Amino acid sequence: MPMGLKVCHLVLSLILMDLSKWVNGAEQVPCYFIFGDSLWDNGNNNALSTKAKANYPPYGIDFPEGATGRFTNGRNMGDILAQLLGFENFIPSFAHASNAKDQEILRGVNYASGGAGIRNETARNNLTLYNFGARKVALFGLGLIGCTPGSIAMYGNGTSCVEYINNEVQMFNTKLVSLVDELNNNFQDTKFIYVNTSSVSSSIPATGNLTANNGVLTCIPSGTACPNRAEHIMWDAAHPTEAAYVMMAERSYKAQLPSDTYPIDIHHLAQLNLTN
Ligand SMILES: *[C@@H]1O[C@H](CO)[C@@H](O)[C@H](O)[C@H]1NC(C)=O
Ligand SMILES: *[C@@H]1O[C@H](CO)[C@@H](O)[C@H](O)[C@H]1NC(C)=O
Ligand SMILES: *[C@@H]1O[C@H](CO)[C@@H](O)[C@H](O)[C@H]1NC(C)=O
Ligand SMILES: *[C@@H]1O[C@H](CO)[C@@H](O)[C@H](O)[C@H]1NC(C)=O
Ligand SMILES: *[C@@H]1O[C@H](CO)[C@@H](O)[C@H](O)[C@H]1NC(C)=O
Repeated sequence: MPMGLKVCHLVLSLILMDLSKWVNGAEQVPCYFIFGDSLWDNGNNNALSTKAKANYPPYGIDFPEGATGRFTNGRNMGDILAQLLGFENFIPSFAHASNAKDQEILRGVNYASGGAGIRNETARNNLTLYNFGARKVALFGLGLIGCTPGSIAMYGNGTSCVEYINNEVQMFNTKLVSLVDELNNNFQDTKFIYVNTSSVSSSIPATGNLTANNGVLTCIPSGTACPNRAEHIMWDAAHPTEAAYVMMAERSYKAQLPSDTYPIDIHHLAQLNLTN
């Protein structure tokens, strides 16, 4: 798979901790930790030396605080899922968590970093998180990267999805499903699920009108955003609009098709009564 794209869309995961005795609010889980890429980053890249940044207009044009580092016009996947899970506030970014109150950090931290991919540190953190009590884990597979305007412009013929990229996506996701089975067998007190990002985006109507920016994956600073953003799937050449995120998050939370999630959806995962 072309590196430029790989770093933009690595596997996404989120961890829901199950410390049921701590639950006292409307939240369906006591805390929510997020690991992922630019579809989930809510400001972690702002202070890092990386080109993958989104803390300038027109990013955040539909977000109350403006351009926060979210790679879209409004809320991103993590924001919408936090709301679906009943959290009153968005999960703070790791970059901000050091300033956050202890109580806020107990509700979760967002470690997602656009373009950074899965770092060794993340893998090492897994046991720490496990020992801490992470018991509900949703792994998001890769989406149809071959269908983003950036892929079509850079690796395709300008009109159709790039099939060889989507084939690799499918191979990767199939292995991810096997991993979910393996993890569920190895960690009896923890539940892992797989979210089929390709499936949950399949009901979203065909690609909107978007220029591919000559292969530049992020917006041109102070570039003009299209006025009817709610009618478009793609916000920039690589990232969906808030409207598309809403549909994707809702389908991962409550599956509409059997292929959306495996073996259960996030709503059922949150309701599970795990003994540990
Ligand atoms: C990450 O870990 C792998 C395997 O232990 C090692 O080969 C690689 O060099 C490490 N990468 C970094 C950036 O530390
Ligand atoms: C955590 O990482 C270690 C080593 O990288 C691996 O052996 C283990 O299976 C992982 N655990 C989980 C829960 O992913
Ligand atoms: C682009 O590729 C697709 C699939 O390979 C093909 O159906 C289509 O005709 C091609 N379009 C152009 C303009 O070459
Ligand atoms: C994801 O869903 C699509 C249907 O939209 C299906 O073709 C594909 O096999 C599914 N992938 C996995 C890994 O389950
Ligand atoms: C796409 O957007 C451009 C620029 O705003 C506009 O000129 C064009 O008519 C639009 N195309 C479609 C199919 O809506």
